[in-house]
Amino acid sequence: MTDKHFTLTDPESGTETKLNRYDPTLGPSVLDITSLYSDQGVFTYDPGFGATASCTSQVTYVDGEAGVLLYRGYPIEQLAEHSNYLEVCYLLLHGELPSREELAEFDKSIRTHTMINESLLRFFNGFHNDAHPMAMVSGVVASLSAFYHDTTDIYNPEHRDIFAHRIIAKLPTIAAAAYKHTLGQPFIYPKNDLSYCSNLLRMFFAVPADEYEIDPVAAEALDLLFILHADHEQNCSTSTVRLAGSSGTSPYSAIAAGISALWGPAHGGANEAVINMLEEIGTADRIDEYVARAKDKNDPFRLMGFGHRVYKSYDPRAAIIRNMCHRVLAGLGQQDSPLLEQALKLEEIALKDEYFIEKNLYPNVDFYSGIIYQALGIPKSMFTVMFAIARCVGWVTHWCEMVADPNSRIGRPRQLYNGPAKRDYLPVSERN
Ligand code: SDX
Repeated sequence: MTDKHFTLTDPESGTETKLNRYDPTLGPSVLDITSLYSDQGVFTYDPGFGATASCTSQVTYVDGEAGVLLYRGYPIEQLAEHSNYLEVCYLLLHGELPSREELAEFDKSIRTHTMINESLLRFFNGFHNDAHPMAMVSGVVASLSAFYHDTTDIYNPEHRDIFAHRIIAKLPTIAAAAYKHTLGQPFIYPKNDLSYCSNLLRMFFAVPADEYEIDPVAAEALDLLFILHADHEQNCSTSTVRLAGSSGTSPYSAIAAGISALWGPAHGGANEAVINMLEEIGTADRIDEYVARAKDKNDPFRLMGFGHRVYKSYDPRAAIIRNMCHRVLAGLGQQDSPLLEQALKLEEIALKDEYFIEKNLYPNVDFYSGIIYQALGIPKSMFTVMFAIARCVGWVTHWCEMVADPNSRIGRPRQLYNGPAKRDYLPVSERN
């Protein structure tokens, strides 16, 4: 960090405050405003934190104008082409690509932590079969804090490591248990001899009454989608995990908070909302009607899967997923996907429309992902659960980075108060 600074002057009192400027490896510099309140008696104001750096981080870099996404410095396009999800998990957690031996050891550790305590399975009996899987998954993940009393010291790096491996390994098992509960089918136990995504597919789709053959095209497609969803800087759910974790709470509770934040349709819930929207639009001749609704200020309808708080250009992940759609759908024998045709048509029309051009609204990661999930046989209600499984490593990585930071403090934003000034209590007899 350098000693460059901005000077802020209060025009009324003339009081000057020196705001230190810290320069990054990449991206915008930041101004340290920690002394502003004590010097000038004012807060900064940034609802939604769109212009506020909440922390220092070495994990992921996003350039919204240029459409750049780097995991620990590696471009998402290169990781998507050459890596696999568990290797990306190792990279995010440890900051470097693993050696062959390191990856083998990490893979073995994840494979041998996939089972969940049998009593956790009974939690699902408390839910009706029509419970939304995100509600079940967030509830059961929070319940993990009732177990594992052997690793509760969050300031012990070994305990953090064990937590990281447990939650990354067990989330697919919990997700599969939630899905099976919605089907009224028996839970399928994980198998240690299967890869991460093959295990997940088998736990989702196998039944005791039949053999289940894993489709390598499906496993590979899932692995790539997980790489693309693994992390994304200080997004809503990751910031939620950091804020919840900053109180020193159980890391499982902090991850459960992140899952809950992800569920919203403005965030990870958009992948489910996109398919609902495409199905509601129905035919290509109705696309113009919905684009008009998305532009209408009096209509709350938004084009789901379009727009982004940071990307004001094409989300690089959406480009990769759009390009993989044709290959995966053809590989699954579903090349004539009406949903994909509808999505491509909608994108073509929207990107030519002045409103979307002027507001820099492009497809984001959620616009095409649901088309592939649906082709894999995964129901819409499970789409955001898939996002949560993939993003779990990002949440864990940021939680570990925060806990390991000696300067980390409990998060406590302030406010611009415009409620009633001080007033005295009135007995009910004196109220009108
Ligand atoms: C994810 O942060 C992350 O990194 C998130 C994520 C990750 O990996 O973690 O990338 C994952 O959450 C992707 C986003 C998924 N959400 C959606 O697809 C839902 C639809 N999108 C919008 O709700 C919206 O674009 C947001 C929430 C994503 C971004 O909202 P912003 O940055 O607050 O944008 P905004 O609401 O300020 O919109 C700017 C303008 C507004 O018009 P004006 O008030 O300026 O006239 O653009 C309009 C908005 O009305 N607008 C849209 C629109 N998105 C924004 N209009 C129509 N359709 C849309 N989708």
